[in-house]
Amino acid sequence: SSLHDLIEALPKVEQHLHIEGTLEPELLFSLAAKNSVALPDDPVYASPETLRDRYQRFTCLDDFLHYYYLGMSVLVTEADFETLAWAYFQKAARDKVRHAEVFFDPQAHTARGVSYDTVVAGLAAAKKRAQAELAITVEYIVCILRHLPLPESDALVDTVLDRGHLTDGTLVGFGMVSSEKPFPPELFADIYARVARTGTHLTTHAGEEAPASFITASLERLGVERIDHGLAAAEDPALLASLARNRTLLTLCPWSNVALKNIPRFEDAPIRAFLDAGVRFSVNSDDPAYFGAYVQEVYCRVQDTFGLSVADWDWIVRGAVEESWCSDERKAEIL
Ligand code: ADE
Ligand code: ZN
Repeated sequence: SSLHDLIEALPKVEQHLHIEGTLEPELLFSLAAKNSVALPDDPVYASPETLRDRYQRFTCLDDFLHYYYLGMSVLVTEADFETLAWAYFQKAARDKVRHAEVFFDPQAHTARGVSYDTVVAGLAAAKKRAQAELAITVEYIVCILRHLPLPESDALVDTVLDRGHLTDGTLVGFGMVSSEKPFPPELFADIYARVARTGTHLTTHAGEEAPASFITASLERLGVERIDHGLAAAEDPALLASLARNRTLLTLCPWSNVALKNIPRFEDAPIRAFLDAGVRFSVNSDDPAYFGAYVQEVYCRVQDTFGLSVADWDWIVRGAVEESWCSDERKAEIL
């Protein structure tokens, strides 16, 4: 449509992006060879092409997560994490992303013997380079994995607190990811309370595959200020009203929601419902190497599907920037 030039030029913020979800099949195979990591003896792993082909047929969140956790086993050295993140930042710059708030999953690496410090050092190097060479500001959000035993998440929090990373600028916030439905927010109230004492930003994935009650419980029991996905909010008018009143940002990922069958079609994304309710939300890519679209393409698909006005886009982008976890000076530069 006629708004595509405007959409491509829009200054974007990416607020829902898993760095491990930017691992393209070609890089996966080359790192596997370099690090002598054996890939499964399965025709899906015959080549980058056969793997990418399988990515087009995810049946649900857990089906995706299987390939996602397997894929990241090729990331071993500090340089591997830097390579991964730098490749993403270059794509983000191409898409006019000016500020990125990026999730990472230390437990998926420490479980394989890769240390938290190795992961953070590689990511920090890529961040420095992105800021210097691409003029993108980057912040990292450390995530716990909800499917793992609680003591393992507590151990990660011990490490993060010991390093002081939530208060020295290394990390901007704390989040929670992975399989949602079997692991309700209440289970993690004590961990969030521990982290909250640092004063860092708090978020969690909620309402991706689980109902709106998981969003409400996340806000009430975990004290999060933001909700990642928030797809299910659309089914609860009272929740929509309170999200709008409190200016709670939802980091919506409509392309991901279709790819993982959380909604049948792109037309079912709650873009219109959120706009009509005055709920603040951003448009994001989630795991672009697995779902096949980086953020610019997601924006364009939103426009092709919903035919938004210039005023709608202005409202979406303004809300996303205002609710970003960067300085007021940086927000003013982006807008
Ligand atoms: N980890 C990476 N992507 C995720 C998603 N969409 N939901 C939950 N956990 C994830
Ligand atoms: Zn996600």
